[in-house]
Amino acid sequence: MSSDLRFDGRVAVVTGAGGGLGRQYALMLAARGAHVVVNDIGGSVGGDGSHEGPAAGVVREILDGGGSAIANTDSVSSPDSAEAIVQCALDKFGTIDILINNAGILRDSTFYKLSPENIDAVLDVHLRGTFFVSLYAWRVMRDKSYGRIINTSSNSGLIGNFGQSNYGAAKLGVVGLTRVLAAEGQRFNINVNAIAPAALTRMTESVIEGDTARILDPAYVAPAVAWLAHEDCQTSGEVISAGGGRIARYFIGLTPGYFAGNLSAEDVRDHWDKVVDETGYIVPARPSEEMDLIMKNWP
Ligand code: NAI
Repeated sequence: MSSDLRFDGRVAVVTGAGGGLGRQYALMLAARGAHVVVNDIGGSVGGDGSHEGPAAGVVREILDGGGSAIANTDSVSSPDSAEAIVQCALDKFGTIDILINNAGILRDSTFYKLSPENIDAVLDVHLRGTFFVSLYAWRVMRDKSYGRIINTSSNSGLIGNFGQSNYGAAKLGVVGLTRVLAAEGQRFNINVNAIAPAALTRMTESVIEGDTARILDPAYVAPAVAWLAHEDCQTSGEVISAGGGRIARYFIGLTPGYFAGNLSAEDVRDHWDKVVDETGYIVPARPSEEMDLIMKNWP
């Protein structure tokens, strides 16, 4: 039988780890030997207010279980405070090996009613927050040629969900960042993946109910994140869907499409079925693979 996945000596930062999914990630990594920075501002689902209680509570759970952890209440959403989160790991544990960008808020609204303030607030935490904390972690990881980063996306962005334009745009932005960092991290043994979770937390309790609630324990998502965070995992640039005990892969596919050397607007209209036909689609790993497809049509 193969051995258990351990994180002894590894240093992990989990943002938004004072509750919900982040708490489960922190508990699992700590139980398997990692030193964990439990970051959380302790605000509301909408991102208002702050409290040191949630991060401190999770640290207490870890310490009570014999693990190693420190609380941090800096916000991911500004460069200075994001740097302070990474600095906390460096000061307390000497390095950073694993970063889980999990912090998040919701400010749902139809686009018609969406305020500029609610666009900024959501982009600031999910997208800019992922940028900022990753930026400071990256410098350490690149210098030592080791790192594992797990970002948090959502099917609200991957598929699109009514009333979540700010959130959906941020969450798909996170996928773009993940793909580019995966390409840049390859030479430095830094793997970067994204998780698209499904779990019953305070963020989803108003929309998840009945039987679905029963099977969506956030603890079911943690094993997927733990594997992506492990040194043995060589996957990078993927978006992994996890929830309710099932784990799967999202991908971006490209149809073979329709080709005409002298393509007209009428050609596009008349061959729309072929344009969108998924038969024979490819999953490009890099932009040049799409260019190869275009070029092969030409003599
Ligand atoms: P949650 O509300 O329990 O956890 C989010 C945590 O982030 C909170 O503890 C909050 O205080 C913290 N946070 C918010 N702003 C912060 C900031 N600026 N700096 C540091 N911490 C901050 O919700 P949940 O469900 O555990 O969400 C975790 C992540 O998973 C989020 O990114 C969310 O968008 C994402 N997600 C969750 C899904 C679900 O089904 N629960 C589905 C898809 C994505």
